[in-house]
Amino acid sequence: MRRPIVELVGTGSYTPPRVVTNDEFSKLLATSDQWIRDRTGIRERRVAGPSETNACMAQAAAKHVLADTGLTPLDLDAIVVATCSPDRLLPSQACDLQALLGATNAAAFDVGAACTGFMYALNVAEGLVAAEQARNVLVVASEKLTTITDWTDRTTAVLFGDGAGATLARPSANGRGILASYMRSDGTLAELLYRPGGGADHPPDEQLLKDHSYFIKMAGREVFKAAVLSMADACDKVLERAGLTAGQIDLLIPHQANIRIIEATAKHAGIPMDKVFVNVERYGNTSAASVAIALDEAVRTGRLQPGMKVLLVAFGAGFTWASLAVQW
Ligand code: ACO
Repeated sequence: MRRPIVELVGTGSYTPPRVVTNDEFSKLLATSDQWIRDRTGIRERRVAGPSETNACMAQAAAKHVLADTGLTPLDLDAIVVATCSPDRLLPSQACDLQALLGATNAAAFDVGAACTGFMYALNVAEGLVAAEQARNVLVVASEKLTTITDWTDRTTAVLFGDGAGATLARPSANGRGILASYMRSDGTLAELLYRPGGGADHPPDEQLLKDHSYFIKMAGREVFKAAVLSMADACDKVLERAGLTAGQIDLLIPHQANIRIIEATAKHAGIPMDKVFVNVERYGNTSAASVAIALDEAVRTGRLQPGMKVLLVAFGAGFTWASLAVQW
């Protein structure tokens, strides 16, 4: 097993107080609590209000990390934000967060890898610290996904939620930290899960508003199959790179998109469900924030204890998929 160079310390998360239950969707759309629970495991999700911006949620999660680590914003050398639902497209979400925190010594930039964003951002942070470009890298994943979700489309509306999670990467001081990581992508499958309009290829116009093409479009069944295969691949590869067996993993924290995808991934990885962290029933799919929120909850509820080996794995639009094995 490799000796870690970079450790993750401190966690934080924020989820909006407003809860939207499946029953509320069944009043708006041809759906039901039963269908949503059976097919996804989701019971409710959090929906941010107008004043709960992506930046505010990111800031709330980041503050917990600073409190946990005893650092001030001035100690941060870099801020990496993973998001696919920024408050605005220019400048980056990370720069808004840098300003809110007053982190005047930090570089700030976004990572775009959809639901895999937190995993990609952790990989980037590990690289910055390992290369001695930075000592304290704040990694935040924050999504206001319900603003880019089509609330008239039952095939996507019921799946997504809002929230943010965060942690900090720094040089490993105690032999704990990131044991191995793995990242992959396949852009040939981009149009199975994407936002067709609103970017430079199709700038905002009246047609865009009419055909709802600025919202997320998804071929659910195809995405489901790819998610299972990709997360299984990511588990295998990171275990191999870390020199670990599935039996040595104390906790699996997978992307929280669908309980059936989580169960299939755990089965493939050979990790029993009692070692899998699940909160999809309460938050739905919060994209990049999903693993970050789950990581914080796992720490705060005592499921993840210092010294345990945890496997983080995610899949998202791109397609992208990635994993990390961490000695916490
Ligand atoms: N309520 C009732 N019926 C519905 C709903 C709904 N909310 N949504 C779809 N249906 C219907 C469909 O229209 C279809 O009806 P039809 O047979 O008459 O055409 C039927 O249910 C079955 O649809 P499927 O898409 O085959 O249902 P499936 O069992 O695959 O479940 C789901 C759909 C939940 C979307 C699933 O495919 C899934 O979880 N896919 C993966 C999503 C995901 O993991 N995304 C991750 C990345 S997200 C990101 O990166 C931003």
